[in-house]
Amino acid sequence: MRLIPGHRHFGHGVHDYDIPRTKVSFHLEVDVVGGYGLNFTFNFLTESEGFMTLTELDAQQAQSLGEVSAATDAATLEQVRIRYLGRNGLLPAFVKQMKDVPLSDRPEFGKRTNAWRTALEAALAERAASIGTVKKTETVFDCTLPGRWFAPGAKHPVSRVIEETAAIFARLGFSVADGPDIENRFNNFTALNTPAHHPSMDASDTFWLTDDLLLRTQTSPVQIRMMTQYRPPVRIITPGRTYRRDTTDATHSANFHQIEGLYVDTKPVSLADLKSTLAYFAKEMMGSKAGVRFRPHFFPFTEPSVEVDFSCHVCGGKGCRVCKMSGWIEIAGAGMVDPRVFQFVGYDPEKVYGYAFGFGVERIAMIKYGIPDIRWLYENDTRFLSQLA
Ligand code: PHE
Repeated sequence: MRLIPGHRHFGHGVHDYDIPRTKVSFHLEVDVVGGYGLNFTFNFLTESEGFMTLTELDAQQAQSLGEVSAATDAATLEQVRIRYLGRNGLLPAFVKQMKDVPLSDRPEFGKRTNAWRTALEAALAERAASIGTVKKTETVFDCTLPGRWFAPGAKHPVSRVIEETAAIFARLGFSVADGPDIENRFNNFTALNTPAHHPSMDASDTFWLTDDLLLRTQTSPVQIRMMTQYRPPVRIITPGRTYRRDTTDATHSANFHQIEGLYVDTKPVSLADLKSTLAYFAKEMMGSKAGVRFRPHFFPFTEPSVEVDFSCHVCGGKGCRVCKMSGWIEIAGAGMVDPRVFQFVGYDPEKVYGYAFGFGVERIAMIKYGIPDIRWLYENDTRFLSQLA
């Protein structure tokens, strides 16, 4: 149809709505104004074609209840409700046309219409409740919601140092050996050539459980366990917990970790091998500029014995507050395995050569990650731990 400006167009139609015996017709006028605007005028006419019968009413009731139980979601159910109970719904339409029903039939009509309403409302409520529960499970996952954030876990600095150390020494042919936290006097002291008057044998210095059993004061007894069980060559590192009667402060803890290293072979090894091994470890652990130095020291189970310093990782050896202006930081104890120790484990001291070293894991972690207080490693405070994640 072409719309001609200034002209008026007419249209009309009749639509059969769902309401039985009721026809709705409309009359449409379109004013074409000036070539742009259109004015629509709708005129609706509803006309009733007689009254509805009781049979029709019963059929509608059955139909409506069927539609309710067929509805599987809330939106469909709402459409059904509107169709029957809404302002222009079928049920009000029935009520409206009651005036056309012969007087004698009206009470029955009224009764049945009310019964229909009650039944329909009950059915709707019941269906809504059951759809409601289905709906709940259906919408549990709302993919439009932002995801929940989980803080990623991370390895504890002590575990990290242990794992890194194991990896570094694995490249040099060392494997990891383990031993119990509860040791006997022989493994922790006697076989390590530690005399009875040594301070670490003192009950006030050590956690004794019985006359013979104690919480190990060092991981060195694992050396003894390995050498009493295996022939040379032995190349092990032994990460583990150790215990001393230390009063806890920023640098002491009664329970801490050590890693012991032991190299024993029938071919000669010297202090130079020990030094190159620890120099390699220093560079791998602390960075390529790290260096080591040895200072003479004493341990009952090594001869000669040394204390091992790493060059200060903060100033690179120039001297700063961290290294107390010395340029070096004390890291480990080490030395050539004392012949007496070889005797204790049944090796011939004339035929085997070996070196050993040991260091504190927490100390390395504190230096590497700049942790000023050893207690932070044990407080399980995620504000601290998450910074190292
Ligand atoms: N076990 C010694 C300590 O706890 C460290 C050490 C190990 C020294 C091996 C020399 C050789 O202090």
